Amino acid sequence: MRVLLLGGTRGIGRAIARELAQRADDVFLLGRSSGDCARSVADLCVTAPAARIASGVCDLDAPETFAAAIGSARAFLGKIDVAIVAAGAFGTQEELEDDFALRDCVLRTNFTNTIHFCESVRPALLEGGGGTLCVLSSVAAVRPRRRIVLYGASKAGLSYYAEGIDHRFRAQGLRTVVVEPGFVRTAMTAGLPEPPFAADPERVARGVLRAIDRRAPLARVPRVWALVAAVLRRVPRVLLRRLDF
Ligand SMILES: NC(=O)c1ccc[n+]([C@@H]2O[C@H](COP(=O)([O-])OP(=O)(O)OC[C@H]3O[C@@H](n4cnc5c(N)ncnc54)[C@H](OP(=O)(O)O)[C@@H]3O)[C@@H](O)[C@H]2O)c1
Repeated sequence: MRVLLLGGTRGIGRAIARELAQRADDVFLLGRSSGDCARSVADLCVTAPAARIASGVCDLDAPETFAAAIGSARAFLGKIDVAIVAAGAFGTQEELEDDFALRDCVLRTNFTNTIHFCESVRPALLEGGGGTLCVLSSVAAVRPRRRIVLYGASKAGLSYYAEGIDHRFRAQGLRTVVVEPGFVRTAMTAGLPEPPFAADPERVARGVLRAIDRRAPLARVPRVWALVAAVLRRVPRVLLRRLDF
C-alpha cells in the first residue's frame, strides 16, 4: 500500500507507522515538527530497511499547510492508496470545561480541522480508481457519557462525517474506515486512571491495519469494545444519565 499517515510521531500513529514499515508498505509521514518526523523516519529505516519512507510537515492547527503536505505525499508515493489520520488532541471533561483555549484546540483539532484535512486529501484518494480514508475516532463517540462529553462530541462528529462521505463517494471509489479505540496507553492518557480493557498502541495499530485490509467501515479495538458498544447503544437514555462512567 502507498500510505499517507498524519500523526506518526507518537502513540498509536507511531505504532501504525512501525507496522506499515515492517510490511514494506510505502509511507509518507506527516507531522507538525519536521525534527520529530525526521527522527521517526530514521528509526523506521533502521528497524525496517526495506521500507520506503519519507516525511513532510503538516499541522492540523494550520490548514494552510495541508495542500503542500498532501502534494509532497503524492509526489513521493505516486498515488495515495490510503490516508490515515491518527493525529488528535485530548483533555479531561473538567479541563475542557474550565479552559476555553484547550477546549477550542481539542474541538478544532479533532473535528473541524481533521475534516478540512480529509476534504483536502479526498480528491487525491479518488484519483485513479479510489482509495481508503481511515480516521481514528474513539469509543467515546458511541454514546454521550457525562465523564467525557466534549472530547466525545468531537469524535462523534468525526465518526458521523466519515460515515457520511463513505455514503457520498463510495460509488466513485472512496472507502472510509472509522476506528474507535478504547483506552490506549499513550502520552495522551498518561496519568489517567486505567479502566478495564486498556490496550497498548501496538495492539491498536494492528487492529487499524486489519480493518483497512478487510475494508471494514467501522472497527472498535480491542474487539471487546464492539460488544461494549453494542450494549451501550441499547442503554435507555434515562439509565445512561445515572451511570457514572
Ligand atoms: N490514547 C487513547 O486512549 C485513545 C483512545 C481513543 C482514541 N484515541 C485517538 O487516537 C489518536 C491518537 O492518539 P494517541 O493516544 O496516539 O495520542 P498521542 O500519543 O498524544 O499522539 C498524538 C499524535 O497527534 C499529533 N498531533 C496532535 N496535534 C496535532 C496537530 N495540531 N497537527 C498535527 N499533528 C498533531 C501528535 O504530534 P506531536 O508529536 O507533534 O505532538 C502525535 O503524533 C487520536 O486521534 C486520539 O484522539 C486515543
